[in-house]
Amino acid sequence: MKKTLTSLAMALTLLSPTALFAKNNVVVVATGGTIAGAGASSTNSATYTAAKVPVNVLLDAVPQVQQLANVSGVQALQIASESITDKELIQLARQINELVKKPDVNGIVVTHGTDTMEETAFFLNLVVHTDKPIVLVGSMRPGTALSADGPLNLYNAVALASSDSAKGKGTLVMMNDDIFAARDVTKTINIHTNAFSSPWGALGSVVEGKAYWFRDVSKLHNNSSEFNIENIKGDALPLVQIVYGSDNMLAQSYLALQQAGVKAIIHAGTGNGSVANYLVPTLTKIQQDGIQIVRSSRVPQGFVLRNAEQPDDKYGWVVAHDLNPQKARLLTALALTKTKDAKELQRMFYEY
Ligand code: DGL
Repeated sequence: MKKTLTSLAMALTLLSPTALFAKNNVVVVATGGTIAGAGASSTNSATYTAAKVPVNVLLDAVPQVQQLANVSGVQALQIASESITDKELIQLARQINELVKKPDVNGIVVTHGTDTMEETAFFLNLVVHTDKPIVLVGSMRPGTALSADGPLNLYNAVALASSDSAKGKGTLVMMNDDIFAARDVTKTINIHTNAFSSPWGALGSVVEGKAYWFRDVSKLHNNSSEFNIENIKGDALPLVQIVYGSDNMLAQSYLALQQAGVKAIIHAGTGNGSVANYLVPTLTKIQQDGIQIVRSSRVPQGFVLRNAEQPDDKYGWVVAHDLNPQKARLLTALALTKTKDAKELQRMFYEY
C-alpha cells in the first residue's frame, strides 16, 4: 500500500503544472528601431529618435512576457533599420544562427525597425537553417507615445516565438496582431500602426497570447533553403542595386551602377516590370557585359510575367515574379553567391 502511495506521489510530481506546462525559452535579439525609440512627449507618435532603449528596458516594460516563456534578451545592434547594410544583416544572421543551434533555445524574437524589417526577415528566411520560430517585430509608435503599439506587438511576438505551432512556418513578422510570412510581407503605410500587409494575406493572427493560423507558406525557406549563412564568407554580398521606374528615365542611372561595380540591377519597372523602349538598348548591353538584369515592379501587388511585354528569353533577363524590388535585390545577391546562370536565377525566383 505504502509503495503504491509513493509511486502515486511521484507520478503526481511529474504531472505537476511546471512539468506539464514547462515554458519554452525565447531569446529577444534587439536591433533598434522605433520599438526602441523615444519621443519628447507622449503626443509625439511620429516625431522621436529611434534606437535609444536597450533590450532589458524593453523587456522590463512588458513583464507579462515572462508568463508566456522564459525570456532573455541580447542587444545585437542599436540602429535605425534604414541604416542596416549587408554587413549588419550577415552579422545578425550569424548571431541568430548560433542561437538557434542551442538546444535550450526554443524560439527567437528580433526587435527591429519597420523600414527594412521585410528585408531582414526575408534574408533570415533564406539563410538560417532551423525549424524554430524566428519572429521579427517592431512598432510604428515609440514606447513613450500614447497608445504605443510596441508593448503588445512584443508580447504577441513572444507568444508566437514560444508556440510550437509556429515551428517550421518560416521566418515570421508579427505586427498589429497579424502574423505575416517573411517572403511576402511589406510595409505599405508609413505612419499608421496597421503598416504591414501581404499581397497574399496574413498567415494568421495572435489574440490574447494564442496564435491562430489560416494559411501556410508554399515556398522554400530555412531548412529547405539551398542558401546558408554558414556558407557566406566575409561581411558583404555581391553588389546588387535597384533603379526605380517612372516616366522620363535616364539610361545613365543604369550605367552609373555598372561603373560602381554592381553584379546585377533590379529594374523596379512600371506596370508588369515594363522597360521604356529608349532603355532597352542600354539594359541589353549591360546584360551582355555580364551584369544580370532582373525585372521587378514598383506595383505592390501581382507578379511580373516572363516574356509578356519584354522578350526575357531573348535578352537573358530574369523576372522577380511576385518579389518586390527590395526582396529581389536580396535574393539576387544570394543567388549570385552560387551561380550567374540566368536559368538558375529564374528557378530561384520561382522557388523562394
Ligand atoms: N527609422 C525607422 C526604422 O528604424 C523607424 C521606423 C520604425 O521602426 O517603425 O525602421
